Amino acid sequence: MATIKVLENKRIVLGVTGGIAVYKSATICSRLVQAGAVVDVVMTEAAQEFVTPLTFQALTHRPVHTDMFEITARQNIVHISLADAANLLLIAPATANTIAKLANGLADNLLTAVALATPAPTPILLAPAMETDMWLHPATQANMEKLRGWGVNVVGPAEGRLASGAMGPGRMAEPDEVVSMARIILARNRDLAGQRVVVTAGGTREAIDPVRYVSNHSSGKMGYAIAEVARDRGAQVILITTVNRPEPFGVEIVQVESAQQMLEAVLPATREADILVMAAAVADFRPKTMAEQKIKKKGDTQGLTLEMVRNPDILAEVANQKLAGYGPHLTVGFAAETEDLIKNAKSKLKRKKLDLIAANNVAAADAGFAVDTNRVTLLAGDGSIEELPLMSKIEVAEKIFDAVLRLEQANG
Ligand code: CTP
Repeated sequence: MATIKVLENKRIVLGVTGGIAVYKSATICSRLVQAGAVVDVVMTEAAQEFVTPLTFQALTHRPVHTDMFEITARQNIVHISLADAANLLLIAPATANTIAKLANGLADNLLTAVALATPAPTPILLAPAMETDMWLHPATQANMEKLRGWGVNVVGPAEGRLASGAMGPGRMAEPDEVVSMARIILARNRDLAGQRVVVTAGGTREAIDPVRYVSNHSSGKMGYAIAEVARDRGAQVILITTVNRPEPFGVEIVQVESAQQMLEAVLPATREADILVMAAAVADFRPKTMAEQKIKKKGDTQGLTLEMVRNPDILAEVANQKLAGYGPHLTVGFAAETEDLIKNAKSKLKRKKLDLIAANNVAAADAGFAVDTNRVTLLAGDGSIEELPLMSKIEVAEKIFDAVLRLEQANG
């Protein structure tokens, strides 16, 4: 789903310690490898009680390290060479025991030795997993505080069912969350680092009565792809959405329904933002009034006439904000057209005072609503036009941010 480039060719040391959550580590390992990372697994002795090194060797196609005194082919000292090569040390699951060792600088097995030898700029990510009482114990909490203070990143633990059958905090974060967190950490120095991006997604719903609404076919897929790509390129992202898709980890979600609600969410969110990408399909009209009760049929044949009024133009309001001296310095819109694509997009770019517009023919089967691909033409305020071939929505999102960065650079 998310862009795969962040993890491509990244060296990740995956430390696996002894807890029942190791079954999730195999999924994490597999996702990292599928995303192009080079994964070196280091297992503690306790971890091998739950699963054998063969599982991870089969997933990574690389030797699995368990022995501090292993002689490597190139006569390297294994813990030093692993630590030096790593772009990220991820320990999942991280047991209370390993956390205690890390917080006290112990190096009594290969994994803790790798952790101690990991040079300061290399990020470390822990996914703790243990019974609630162990997690809440002051010793563990103090250890975690110490590790966080040293800049160690932590994902989870979640609340849920534990190995003992009890419910409470201590359950390891789900593989998707752990992998997303790894992406976010590795994206920190990427080209959108430090930028605040607001994205809108989905078609707005304009209520007729408490059970009915007027809307459109927008699935929100393009907006979600934009939010994920911005996150993966290091941005801080707020996604204002009308749809209920799986929430991209690390992205702040604001759920709205109508155009009016979207406007009320966009204006405060963009006050401090750098970039706004309006991928939402905002309804131009809404029913003049929303009936308080469900509208009932009258007679056998009588129809229903709805009076519709204009909705606010969100991009125009943001442009006004910009003229008043605050709001994003760069706005990106979409032009969903069924005819005269370029002509209509050019006039929208101008009329809405946009920096960039992505024009797409929503009538095309492979580039419209609810599909994973899109074919867009990017028109920029500086007059440049870039016609892109059919590509995934993730790739389109990458192209949009390439163009955004080019415009930012040109604007100084
Ligand atoms: N948009 C908006 N507020 C609206 C309508 C649209 O902010 N009330 C934004 C959309 O999110 C999109 C861009 O404006 O980024 C263009 O939307 P589109 O529906 O293609 O254009 P319209 O403004 O509706 O113009 P037209 O009716 O001429 O198609």
